[in-house]
Amino acid sequence: MKNLLVTGAAGGIGSEIATSASKEGYRVGLIDQNSAKLKEVEAKIENSISLPADITKEDSVNEALDLFGETPDGLVNCAGIVRFGSLLDQQVKDFEDVINVNLLGCFIVSCCVARLMKNNGSGNIINISSISGGKHPAIHSGAYAATKAGVAMLSEQMSLEWGREGIRVNAISPGFIDSGMSADHYVDPVEREKREGMVPIQKIGEAQDIANVVMFLLSDESSYIHGENIIVDGGVMNSVLANIGRN
Ligand SMILES: NC(=O)c1ccc[n+]([C@@H]2O[C@H](COP(=O)([O-])OP(=O)(O)OC[C@H]3O[C@@H](n4cnc5c(N)ncnc54)[C@H](O)[C@@H]3O)[C@@H](O)[C@H]2O)c1
Repeated sequence: MKNLLVTGAAGGIGSEIATSASKEGYRVGLIDQNSAKLKEVEAKIENSISLPADITKEDSVNEALDLFGETPDGLVNCAGIVRFGSLLDQQVKDFEDVINVNLLGCFIVSCCVARLMKNNGSGNIINISSISGGKHPAIHSGAYAATKAGVAMLSEQMSLEWGREGIRVNAISPGFIDSGMSADHYVDPVEREKREGMVPIQKIGEAQDIANVVMFLLSDESSYIHGENIIVDGGVMNSVLANIGRN
């Protein structure tokens, strides 16, 4: 049986990825610092084990890996946070926390896991970035966009260094997703409609849309895709000129 580690597994997108992997026959290690929520998620997912850990602490991650007890075939770095506010009002601590979870945490977990994968000569790592890490920072999102750009670039560097070890690495950049940290935006129908109108295919994505791409990247069908950042956003990244008129 193949196995997979998912960080941020107590969250909206992470729990959906873990559910999809379990349905495809994976044993799934659920990493998150929210142990209460993690237990709830574990109870719903067959063949899963909750591994409470703070991904910003290497010791905590290594304890989780010991508890998992196997070398992971795959790792999805999905844990992430955002601290809203204008740059001039941001506290240094908030900025630092976002860097620590989104970027440093991705680095720590990936290195701990890649050391094990290297011994096996194979592995598959998928890092969840965001369209805000591309060319379009969102206003008042603090360090978030900068860390997500960092995750995309770190993924490329991992792919360069670890490809020869048999470890495939890719990133996924989700767009507007009605789940987890963004779910509140879609409670108000007026706000939802406004956002839907900004997406060329006129709909908001769901956590399952991201889980589907993760499953593809984990599969042999994607075996020659390496070092890519796959944008999953209904076309929103390409829509910057959508409202410019042409005769
Ligand atoms: N929801 C969206 O619209 C959207 C869009 C683009 C990218 N993303 C990215 O997708 C990923 C998942 O987002 P989500 O919407 O499911 O958010 P979420 O808040 O539901 O899940 C994030 C999870 O990360 C966990 N976490 C935070 N700090 C941690 C730490 N130090 N150690 C271990 N776990 C920690 C949280 O406890 C939480 O369960 C994030 O990386 C996010 O940036 C989300």
